Amino acid sequence: MRLLVLGGTRFLGRMVAAQAAARGHAVTCATRGLSGSPPPGTRFVAVDRDRPDGLAALTGETFDAAVDVSRDPAQVRRALAALDGRIGHWTFVSTTSVYADMETPGQRAATAPLLAPAEDGSYGAAKVACERAFGGSALIVRAGLIVGPGDPTGRFGYWVARLARGGMVLAPAAPEDPVQFIDGRDLAGWIVRAAERGLAGPFDAVAPACTRRAFLARCADALGSSCHPVWVDRAFLDRHGVGRESGPYALPLPLPDTIGDASRDVSATLAAGLTPRPLEETARDTLRWMEESGGPVTGLTRGEEAALLAAWRAEQE
Ligand SMILES: NC(=O)c1ccc[n+]([C@@H]2O[C@H](COP(=O)([O-])OP(=O)(O)OC[C@H]3O[C@@H](n4cnc5c(N)ncnc54)[C@H](OP(=O)(O)O)[C@@H]3O)[C@@H](O)[C@H]2O)c1
Repeated sequence: MRLLVLGGTRFLGRMVAAQAAARGHAVTCATRGLSGSPPPGTRFVAVDRDRPDGLAALTGETFDAAVDVSRDPAQVRRALAALDGRIGHWTFVSTTSVYADMETPGQRAATAPLLAPAEDGSYGAAKVACERAFGGSALIVRAGLIVGPGDPTGRFGYWVARLARGGMVLAPAAPEDPVQFIDGRDLAGWIVRAAERGLAGPFDAVAPACTRRAFLARCADALGSSCHPVWVDRAFLDRHGVGRESGPYALPLPLPDTIGDASRDVSATLAAGLTPRPLEETARDTLRWMEESGGPVTGLTRGEEAALLAAWRAEQE
């Protein structure tokens, strides 16, 4: 295929471009050139999707398929207009944040209600507006938390780094709550294979859910570590000002802490070819990548976690 990646210089887009090139496709990455470099073996074209004529460098080119990672409906509409009739198959990388109901467990992409689209609204509402612009012939990939080597957020990396140290581990919420995520390498590979066969429609792109207890235990086992989770409730963490996402003084959950967004029924996606690797492999590879690269540092420091564990014990006595 001649594949255009609108993006391709950061985490997921770059892996899509790299895996497509490895499968023998002729890959073009089109970005401003600010966020990073495209992978070896791909071609780079400078574009600026915020400018009315920003895709002019692609004029006259045709592609068998294109993958777009934008989160801006105006950028999407501009690309669809500028490339009209010159793209065989579109993939849009969306998010499970498009869903209106974050509480009901086991929802499916085909039937779950969406947020109202909004140009300048929340991330999820803007992604809904992007999806609408693509229409029904595109593959809409609603990714959940994307993890693994190269993940710049550290939301998963925090846990493997912490579990590798062993001991008493401060763990948020209830052990039977679900977690759900996808290794970026598996997601990228599926996007390329799905484009090859022209798959269309909305799919939730995460692995099947597991419990938080199993998540921590399986990662610790994979890392050869001995850990004892100490489950603390959200109210305690909120009282102590502990953040929920990546960044300092945060306890990044492996997933959004909403049951509906962490327990999606992905049987249709698995049937359509998404093949998640074992969690153990993702945990080991992520730790190795963090050690080699100096990885993203996020979440609680050792001292902060120890102080919170002491405060939790004091409250329980
Ligand atoms: N990370 C997660 O856990 C998660 C979860 C759910 C969904 N998602 C979705 O997954 C995708 C992740 O994509 P990603 O990892 O490749 O990272 P990204 O940060 O979304 O990448 C943005 C890409 O677009 C380019 N870009 C930004 N502004 C541009 C402009 N004005 N003109 C042209 N190009 C522009 C950037 O390069 P330049 O800056 O150099 O232009 C970069 O290559 C996104 O769609 C995100 O919404 C992520």
